[in-house]
Amino acid sequence: PNQPSGNAHWRIGVIGGSGIYDLSGLEDVQDIAVQSPFGAPSGPVTLGRIGAVEFVFLARHGAGHRIPPEGINHRANIDVMKRCGVTDLIAISAIGSLREELAPGSFVAVDQFIDRTHGRADSFFGEGLVAHVSLADPVCARLSAHLADAAQAAGARVHRGGCYLAMQGPQFSTRAESRLYRQWGADVIGMTAMPEARLAREAELPYALIGMVTDYDAWREGDHVDVAQVLQVMRGNAALAKATIGQLAARLPQVRTPSPIDHALDGAIMTAPAHRD
Ligand code: ADE
Repeated sequence: PNQPSGNAHWRIGVIGGSGIYDLSGLEDVQDIAVQSPFGAPSGPVTLGRIGAVEFVFLARHGAGHRIPPEGINHRANIDVMKRCGVTDLIAISAIGSLREELAPGSFVAVDQFIDRTHGRADSFFGEGLVAHVSLADPVCARLSAHLADAAQAAGARVHRGGCYLAMQGPQFSTRAESRLYRQWGADVIGMTAMPEARLAREAELPYALIGMVTDYDAWREGDHVDVAQVLQVMRGNAALAKATIGQLAARLPQVRTPSPIDHALDGAIMTAPAHRD
């Protein structure tokens, strides 16, 4: 169960994706390496606070962007966030757009996922302790609304709601795949939010993802995505993403009331108590 800082304060975990390797404006900053039984996380975490809101930051791809999408140890990353007493978890990610109206430079507060990743360790449960959490609503609506409000206050153009197609990578999509994902109802595409979002739910952490659109992926005739394009837009957006975190800290209600996601495991474990490892 979620017993974070022992009171009703927010302690927000932030997982920064491509282009976001630190946060600005943190006070009382401390970098610490946290061990996890699930292996090595992406790197040390940075602890700090902005006013009364505490933050725990982790760069998803590690310092200098050394870890590829398929190499991210999401279980260790989520476990480390949990060990740091995080109450809620925010992901900031570069995403491709599958919709004309989601133009590069804009932000999307994602609320659904289609998971096309494979071969990634995607659960804390398994043999010996079987659990099935609900993922019907994989994003915490409260946290996502706070995040979208904060991004808007920071000056970003924000779209609320959107379905994120998690692809395996590391190559970008073919045009046929990109067009297929549009037909499936996906709005944006990325390589890293899954299994991160699943694991956050298993860890009873309310999760929200703000995606920064860097490109139109490959569905438009003649267009294609490359790293230079992603990096160029991210450079322009990193400051906005960091300002979003500052706005979030300033705008969160003083008291964090409980979330139903704090108890996501209630009723989810199938294994009989006497048979649990
Ligand atoms: N990240 C940023 N743009 C992307 C795209 N088009 N496909 C997958 N991941 C992305």
